[in-house]
Amino acid sequence: MRVLSGIQPTGNLHLGNYLGAIKNWVRMQDECECLFFLADLHALSMPHNPAQLTQSTREMAAALIAAGIDPGKSTLFNQARVPAHAELQWLLNGTARMGWLGRMTQFKDKSGKNREGASIALFAYPVLQAADVLLYRATHVPVGEDQKQHLELARDIAAKFNNDYGVDLFPLPEPYITGAATRVMSLRDGNAKMSKSDPSDGSRINMTDADDVIVQKIRKAKSDADALPSELAGLGGRAEAHNLVNIYAAAADIEPQAVLDQFAGQGFGAFKPALAELLVERLRPIRDRFIALKQDSAAIDQLLRSGAEKAANMAKPTLDAAYRALGLLR
Ligand code: TYM
Repeated sequence: MRVLSGIQPTGNLHLGNYLGAIKNWVRMQDECECLFFLADLHALSMPHNPAQLTQSTREMAAALIAAGIDPGKSTLFNQARVPAHAELQWLLNGTARMGWLGRMTQFKDKSGKNREGASIALFAYPVLQAADVLLYRATHVPVGEDQKQHLELARDIAAKFNNDYGVDLFPLPEPYITGAATRVMSLRDGNAKMSKSDPSDGSRINMTDADDVIVQKIRKAKSDADALPSELAGLGGRAEAHNLVNIYAAAADIEPQAVLDQFAGQGFGAFKPALAELLVERLRPIRDRFIALKQDSAAIDQLLRSGAEKAANMAKPTLDAAYRALGLLR
C-alpha cells in the first residue's frame, strides 16, 4: 500500500481541504508509506502571480505541517522540484484521449463559456494529476469527493498504457474518500462546494482565521428556521443544515447521526454556537503552529528540498520503465 496525495498551493488551506482530505492524510501516515506534495505546477492552469505562488507554496507547506503532516514520517515536497512529474505527463499525453479530458467537470466549470480561451494546462491538468499518482505507483489516493473523476481518469490512463504497451507498470490507483465531510459545502450556499477560489471569504473557514472570525462566519452561515431532526432522513432537502451537521461530525470525529442524537429538537440558535466553539477549539492549535512555522521560510525550503530528493529517487525506476516501454532511447 502506497499513499499519495496533493494540494494546490493557491489561496489558503480551508476547512473543506482539512476535513475532506488532510485529516485523512495525517491519520494514514502512521499506517503506511505516504507521499504528499504541493501541486505548484497545477497552479499554472489558471492566471497566477509568480511572487504570490512562491509565497503560497511555502505557506501551504507550513499549513500542512501545522495540520499534522510530519516530514519525518511522510515524504513532503513541491512538484516543481521533481521534474519527473512533468516528464511522465508528456509520456502519458500519447495515451490520454481528448474526449476523456473534455468530459472532466472541473475543466467545464473552470473554462466556463470561454473554452477557446482556456489554457492548454487547464485542459491537460488531469494528465499531470495522473502522472503525479502513477509516477510513484501509488495504490491509495486520499482526496475529497470532487477529485473522484480525476482519479477515474488516472485509472483509465494507467490501464490503457499497460495494455497498449504490454506492460504491468502502473497499478490502478484507488481513490480513498472517507469521513463525514467528503464534500464540504459553502457556508453561503449549500449547493456550492467550499472552495479557495470563491470570491466571498464568508463562504469558507480558512485554517488561518482568528477565533472571532470563525464565530462570526458560523453565525452568518446560511441555515434554516427548522429544528434539527432526530434522523438523517430529516435533513433531506435541507442542504445548508446537512452541511453544518456534517462539518460538526467530521470536526468532532463522530458520525452525523451522533450529532443529531445530541441536538435533535434544537434550532440553529443553539447549534451554531456549539459548532463555532468546536471549530475554534479544533483549529486554534493548527493556526498557532502555522503562524510560528511560516516565519522560517529557509527551514521550510530545506524540508521541501530534502523531500523532493527522496521523491525523485522513488520516481526514477517508474519513469525509466515508462521511457523504455515507449521505445524511447535515452
Ligand atoms: P485541491 O487543492 O482543490 O484540494 C486539496 C484536497 O482537498 C479536497 N477538497 C475538499 N474536500 C471536501 N470538501 C471540499 N469543499 C473540498 N475542497 C477541496 C480535495 O478533494 C483534495 O483532496 N487536483 C487536486 C490536487 C492534486 C492531486 C494530485 C490530488 C494534484 N495532483 C494527485 C491527488 C493526487 C486539487 O486541485 O486539489
